[in-house]
Amino acid sequence: MKRILLMSAAAMASAALSAQTVKTMSDLKPEQKSMAISLKLTGRLSAEPKGDYRQMRDLCFQVRTIDLGDAQSTEIPKNAFHSRHQLQNIILPKALKTIGTQAFFACDKLQAVTIPASVDTIGAAAFSGCKSMTEVTIEGAPVIGEYAFARLSGLTTVRVNSMTPPKASVSSFYGIVPGSVKLVVPKGSEKAYMKAAGWSCFYAEPRLASEVSDPRQCLIPMPQELSVKKGAKTFNVHTAWHIVVTAADDNANALDNEKERAREMLSNRIGNIVNSRQRGVRLVLGIDPTLADDEAYTMVVDSKGVCIKGKTPRGVFWGLMTLDQVLRGSGNKECVDAIPQLTIKDTPRTHVRELMVDPARTFIPIDELKAFVPEMARYKLNAIHLHLVDDQAWRIEIKKYPQLTEQASMRWGQDDLLMPYKGYYTQEQMRDLVEYAAKYHVEIIPEIEMPGYEVAAISVFPELTCHQRQVPIRTTCGVSNELLCPGNAFTYEFLGNVFQEIANIFPSKYIHLGGDEAGNPALDCWTDCPKCQALKRQLGITTIDRSENWKLQGYLFDRIIGLLRDTYNKTPMFWYETDFKKIQPGCVTFAWRDGLTDKALEAAVNNNARIMLCPGEHCYFDYPMAKGDMPEVNWGMPVTSLEATYSIDPSWGRDQSFEDNNLFGVAGTLWSECITSPERIYYQAYPRAIALAEAGWTRNKPSYGNFLVRLKPTAKDMMRRGVTYSLEY
Ligand code: ACM
Ligand code: ZN
Repeated sequence: MKRILLMSAAAMASAALSAQTVKTMSDLKPEQKSMAISLKLTGRLSAEPKGDYRQMRDLCFQVRTIDLGDAQSTEIPKNAFHSRHQLQNIILPKALKTIGTQAFFACDKLQAVTIPASVDTIGAAAFSGCKSMTEVTIEGAPVIGEYAFARLSGLTTVRVNSMTPPKASVSSFYGIVPGSVKLVVPKGSEKAYMKAAGWSCFYAEPRLASEVSDPRQCLIPMPQELSVKKGAKTFNVHTAWHIVVTAADDNANALDNEKERAREMLSNRIGNIVNSRQRGVRLVLGIDPTLADDEAYTMVVDSKGVCIKGKTPRGVFWGLMTLDQVLRGSGNKECVDAIPQLTIKDTPRTHVRELMVDPARTFIPIDELKAFVPEMARYKLNAIHLHLVDDQAWRIEIKKYPQLTEQASMRWGQDDLLMPYKGYYTQEQMRDLVEYAAKYHVEIIPEIEMPGYEVAAISVFPELTCHQRQVPIRTTCGVSNELLCPGNAFTYEFLGNVFQEIANIFPSKYIHLGGDEAGNPALDCWTDCPKCQALKRQLGITTIDRSENWKLQGYLFDRIIGLLRDTYNKTPMFWYETDFKKIQPGCVTFAWRDGLTDKALEAAVNNNARIMLCPGEHCYFDYPMAKGDMPEVNWGMPVTSLEATYSIDPSWGRDQSFEDNNLFGVAGTLWSECITSPERIYYQAYPRAIALAEAGWTRNKPSYGNFLVRLKPTAKDMMRRGVTYSLEY
């Protein structure tokens, strides 16, 4: 063991020798930050939003070794190196006092860490998911937070110098298999460690108190009706389970997928549920056509087992997700020991509860995108809206125009982040995603932006824009003046061909057309274009300045909406802009602008249109959840607090008729200009997505305080499963 330690110290020393040594990050030029492989900082480090730590994490995208041994710093801030997958070695400052929550979350190449004697606090999940970490050395006796060293599957040795076991949580080393990791402690202190909370797990499986689930304390979204049978005998869930499908009249295989999902859920939660003799607790899945809503379900737990019925397989699946949470209980362990007898009758308030993700700005590898699906489904979120193209990249293979992904799916940089952003999805990958998501009753809705945010396409086909200017794809955020030219026949030919393939890849009834921020505030791209001006005259638009440019967008949209509706039987969607008083029949508009929801609602009601609520002040999850939370550096994004998200009223104070006729659903956005890793999408999304899920699902949602009570076990479960989320609430 000692030899290994010496070798790794030697390796560190040699890496440090070749390190770029500076006092602070301000001594490095932007390109030096992006090129740095090994860094040694010796000055006073700032944990401020634009300070040294944020720069090390976000600007040094390929740094492998960081030596802060001589740096003056008492705090590694929360999220300091969150999901930095390249980081292999870190030497912590000698006078360090605190390591913030999730500081090294999912640094999955980090090999070893020595916590200096000066450290008094290690925050929750600080090193969670550092699965290459073989050695942890704790020189002092810090208080160690929940899940601080959880899920370190490569761990071989933990050394602690303190005679008294540092105060740890039972979950601090969650995932340790007793006997498989060597705990080296001072002679004579072994007995104390064997008995101490958080340390005893090195010697034996921790014995956790027996627990009966209390669904009122843990279900999110809260079901419409829930009654727990008082005084009835609870039943032990750690037994064999027998999943029985009661055949639907017309389709005996209708619930094959749900049976498979049930097996998956029970195995993940309980462990071995196999029963070769078809006995044990019965989980009955069935269809009940008398239920009022396609997503409605009932769940009855009695002394014999569990029965879940839905009007459709979707309802049955949501019932399974509810059962999963009943089994999870307080979140103190994977699964409770017993569940009470109960009856749940549940039905959603809104029918589309979506998250929008933005692989255009920061590519999301396909496996990471797929992994997002089951996490959403736990909370009955049922759609992913994929923002596939933007000024910065084109991310979907179009067979007619292979140049789009060949030439416009990679760039260097996003604002001050100088790193490569590349990747695209093949059509086959998208079909696979659609099929996979359908198993979790999550729909994939594609978005192709027009007429703005199309610079990636314009960079390949300059003839798409008014002046046929070849412009590079954007490497900064913001709005471009290069728009698709509505006066040019090729624009329609191009969009027609693209949408033909998109309609064919994605079976969703919905296609999102973008439509935001092209003419509002009005841009000049169309003002000095002869083709656009000719189109204006043809349409009877008399102004030649930019004031009525939005009418050209209306014309372009009308043509594409007509094509999608009439040829492909799709329902077009778009981001609503208040210039548009008329909305084409059958479209879904998105109310997104802070403070303008009433105007968007008015237009939807006046046009008998449907509306998705995603107003920035409640639903923009790319905004930080609290001041100073990630992302620290942005273009002036406001804060969207968890409480603000929870407080959204899907009917926006209107009556039932609005809800029945106009309300389409609720959506949370995850624009990704400032999201540099897949893990950070989760960090931005959760727990706000859970609050949104309840606001969208539960008709008489409980108080925010009550939500926080139920969030606690949910959050514990996420920590245990290694899912990151913001703790700023
Ligand atoms: C948007 O945030 N531009 C829809
Ligand atoms: Zn034009």
